[in-house]
Amino acid sequence: MAGYEAPAVVAPDQSIMGPDVKIRLKNVSKVFETRKGPFVALDSITLDIPTGCFFMLVGPSGCGKTTLLRILAGLETHTSGTIEIAKPADGRPGNSMIFQGDSLFPWMTVWENASYGLAMRRKPAAEIKEKVSHFLNRTGLLRFADYYPHQLSGGMRQRVSIARAFSNDPDILLMDEPFSALDEQNKVMLQEELLKIWEETRKTVLFITHSVDEAVTLGDRIMVMTAHPGREKATLDVPFERPRQVLELRARPEYGEFVFNIWSYLRDEVQRARAQDEGRTS
Ligand SMILES: Nc1ncnc2c1ncn2[C@@H]1O[C@H](COP(=O)(O)OP(=O)(O)OP(=O)(O)O)[C@@H](O)[C@H]1O
Ligand SMILES: [Mg+2]
Repeated sequence: MAGYEAPAVVAPDQSIMGPDVKIRLKNVSKVFETRKGPFVALDSITLDIPTGCFFMLVGPSGCGKTTLLRILAGLETHTSGTIEIAKPADGRPGNSMIFQGDSLFPWMTVWENASYGLAMRRKPAAEIKEKVSHFLNRTGLLRFADYYPHQLSGGMRQRVSIARAFSNDPDILLMDEPFSALDEQNKVMLQEELLKIWEETRKTVLFITHSVDEAVTLGDRIMVMTAHPGREKATLDVPFERPRQVLELRARPEYGEFVFNIWSYLRDEVQRARAQDEGRTS
């Protein structure tokens, strides 16, 4: 495809990135060709994601968050700029993506869904059994292993997605608003669970959310994006120690201050996105 450069995947020792950077984007732009002409979805995004970082991407609707994730997952191409992703040392899969809403196979049981990635890679049965039962147990789903997705609640289905992604043991986890469809109680429970599982593994995570609370609760670093075209507005390090307990953290005054700080960057962009939408529909 014209203008397409595949993301460069380089071994850590050959990289200009140094051993501590997992993903490096330099001036990455994405232009969609539409019937109305070129549409700039991402405009010169530059960022480094350190190895083991829980990196949050926050921005108004339509600013290009999913597009960025899809590019990193290899599902979409970028138009210009460079992307480097450090190769996993031991042949593990590069990344696993958890999408918003349902991405389970409806004809497979919870167990089959969770073990799918490992089975596809023809891993030994004993290893599959050990990993899948560990993560189904961690997400409270072991006794539902024989259930089909339609027999589960929305929160349980998202838990299966999480168990599947972690069982697969990817080098990088790409998560696109995995909890946005859930009610507040389920969301907090799943955030707690995700934090605990992540503490065990310390994987590099790129997580998209609309929720500033979610970004501050989960993340090490937060990039706030501008309204269309998506650019970097600000990148901030989250000052809270780990391990974190969601509700305790949220009760702290410093938490409220930091959330307010992020909102001060986001507010104008949300208003701008809304004005753009109104302009489009009028
Ligand atoms: N295949 C495509 N062709 C043309 N335009 C596209 C295509 N995919 C996405 N876009 C446009 O690119 C922009 C960014 O889309 P994207 O889905 O990345 O936004 P987002 O930040 O994830 O939004 P949301 O928060 O609502 O999920 C949007 O204006 C969208 O309409
Ligand atoms: Mg999106």
